[in-house]
Amino acid sequence: MNSFKQKLNAIGNSYLEDSPDYNQLKETTDNFKELLFSWYQKKFGENLDRENIENENGTAIGPLWAAMCLEDIARTKKFICGIAKAIEQNRNKKSPIKIIYAGTGPFATLLLPLFQKFEDLNIEYTLLELNPISFSVLTRLLKDLDFSNLKISLIEADATKFKLSLNQFPDVCISETMQNSLDKEHQVAIFQNFFEQSKPETIFIPEKIELFIAKRVYNNSSLSTRAQKIQKVFELSKQSFIKTGKEFPVVKTTISKNELDENEDLVLLTLIHVFQEEKILENESGLTIPKTIFRQPIKSEFVIYSQYEIGANPKLNLNFSIPN
Ligand SMILES: C[S@@+](CC[C@H](N)C(=O)[O-])C[C@H]1O[C@@H](n2cnc3c(N)ncnc32)[C@H](O)[C@@H]1O
Repeated sequence: MNSFKQKLNAIGNSYLEDSPDYNQLKETTDNFKELLFSWYQKKFGENLDRENIENENGTAIGPLWAAMCLEDIARTKKFICGIAKAIEQNRNKKSPIKIIYAGTGPFATLLLPLFQKFEDLNIEYTLLELNPISFSVLTRLLKDLDFSNLKISLIEADATKFKLSLNQFPDVCISETMQNSLDKEHQVAIFQNFFEQSKPETIFIPEKIELFIAKRVYNNSSLSTRAQKIQKVFELSKQSFIKTGKEFPVVKTTISKNELDENEDLVLLTLIHVFQEEKILENESGLTIPKTIFRQPIKSEFVIYSQYEIGANPKLNLNFSIPN
């Protein structure tokens, strides 16, 4: 597995380059995928399972879909860079740097290319995965790669409920268990669980996810036209949790009579602040594709009440109050 490790290191370095062009990023991502999938084929000789797992906090996507997330180039690059910066920020810590990675998928894609880069640091990694197949594939991969010089605990567990040992506050807490608009998956419930077990300096990756009601021209084929924000309706961050606690506020948005032109619709816009300057903007990734929420030729004022809800179908609930 030495050549696997060398390739992995090269892939990590390439993602961390300051401003690689698209072709380089695409090539790096293709190489990463090829490396992981060909290892998997050799070991298991079958296709990765596709079954999602549904529970009271939403959907945990199946191993194949989780593995395919790496193909979302901007997402993968920005998360890897954000995580590296968060680790660098802890470099001079005297006690071990504690990192939680909640929802690894079968390949721990967002950390795997960084393990060797930071092997000189005293890091305790806790990797959590709910899906038993993803968990067992990753167990095998880590064993094959023989990272015995690193402190990695891989645990099959639900990260929305997992309790850390007393006073084991994480320094960095990573999770990418989301879709655009924070629909369906566990991101918010996982954030909530670890926020309650964090310290003020804990860095969450992403550090902030924002949802906005916005308007855009819907028959415009140009992806470069940005939706125009009308109002922020939800924020997932340490600051927002400190302000509002577990009770997500109801936000009222008034759409005035002449707000929407005939060819404009309302969308829910997702923006992801991974860490520091690593941000995923509109349409840069599948995670930030705006979702249409309203397209009607209404010419009077109306109101939208928004509130995030954790549950079997987590989402931002939208209630429209439209005059007759
Ligand atoms: C979107 S995939 C991301 C995979 C990988 N981390 C990446 O970024 O490429 C989310 C992964 O998180 C896992 N997951 C979702 N909810 C979880 C939970 N509550 N606890 C542990 N793992 C979870 C899913 O099973 C899936 O493997």
